[in-house]
Amino acid sequence: MMTTFLIRTLSVAAGGAAMLWIASVPGQAAPKAKPAVPPAFARCVACHATTPGAAHGVGPNLFGIAGKKAGTRPDYAYSPALQKSGRVWTRAEMIAYIADPAKTVPGTKMINPSVASAADRMAIAQYLEKLK
Ligand code: HEC
Repeated sequence: MMTTFLIRTLSVAAGGAAMLWIASVPGQAAPKAKPAVPPAFARCVACHATTPGAAHGVGPNLFGIAGKKAGTRPDYAYSPALQKSGRVWTRAEMIAYIADPAKTVPGTKMINPSVASAADRMAIAQYLEKLK
């Protein structure tokens, strides 16, 4: 498991196969109407699935993340930093994290995205709140 995870992480770090992780969504029964995906979320889907039961990618599946304690999705190998952060994903915490992950949770292994636009951060946080 860990080895697989590391390979995934490395392939993305190398600028490689991020697109692979968008595809693997197992069939689910009768989905509800899906909330509109804000354009700024496009950068997140390389690493995060958003449908119930879909496999974790480089990052954990974000379905139902709003209101949850950070670092607690089952079967995902989080950094100790995020697990020990004691955060709960309120809207404000999600906005802070995607504005600057490394500053908000020093030691987090989510490195890549800093969402520069406040409007984009708000749109993403509101979108994540609808994933339930
Ligand atoms: C390059 C891959 C990558 C991208 C792109 C990425 N993430 Fe992440 N994300 C991660 C990883 C890895 C973690 C786990 C961090 C840890 O364990 O420290 C994570 C964790 C998270 C968490 C915490 C989940 C939890 O269970 O506590 C949230 C929320 C999140 N990401 C949101 C986003 C959003 C929103 C975007 C787009 C703006 C995004 N991520 C883009 C890799 C990524």
